[in-house]
Amino acid sequence: MLENILEDCKKQLSAALLHKKHSYRYFTLATQKKDGGSHLRTVVLRDFDPLQMQFIIYTDLRSKKVEELTDHPQAQFLFYDATRLIQLVVDAHLVECTQDTHTYQNLPEPSKKDYSSKQTPGTTIERPDQIVHDFSKGYFTKLTFQAKQLEYLKLKRPNHIRTLFCDSDQWKGQFLAP
Ligand SMILES: Cc1cc2nc3c(=O)[nH]c(=O)nc-3n(C[C@H](O)[C@H](O)[C@H](O)COP(=O)(O)O)c2cc1C
Repeated sequence: MLENILEDCKKQLSAALLHKKHSYRYFTLATQKKDGGSHLRTVVLRDFDPLQMQFIIYTDLRSKKVEELTDHPQAQFLFYDATRLIQLVVDAHLVECTQDTHTYQNLPEPSKKDYSSKQTPGTTIERPDQIVHDFSKGYFTKLTFQAKQLEYLKLKRPNHIRTLFCDSDQWKGQFLAP
């Protein structure tokens, strides 16, 4: 049963790459702020390797998350499937931060806009339409995370199912009291 649960998690995470409406396409990424507090934001799952348990997102090199992950590579992801009442919490760390110009050049123009504003993300502007883009100067960055553990919780009657899978025990998994 444990093995089936992990396999299903991997199957759903892979499905999220193909289906735009999949619950796991968007997830919450938590990083640690300089003052020790946590910083949460929504990101898109761009790639997932079920064998290596690696997750990839795209971002702007100048964003706060890159700075925070450079200081503290540890991160947490929260995925939630509201239909199946399943929550996944993944503990991971940043293993690679690459400015992938090939992938950036092949993005459609509207997507390039997300990584090429002249104004640095998070800086104050007068109005939303004040943003100017310089497509030649993309700050497109691919962040690769290595998962260390995955905690699964499914709410159901008569028994909720909570399990923990860890890299340190070859992802065999164990049940936890919900
Ligand atoms: C639906 C949705 C999807 C988003 N996807 C991404 C994403 O894939 N990558 C990203 O860097 N920011 C994404 N964002 C914006 C982030 O949530 C965040 O506001 C931005 O990256 C700045 O984050 P930071 O300053 O904390 O680094 C998304 C926001 C929303 C609402």
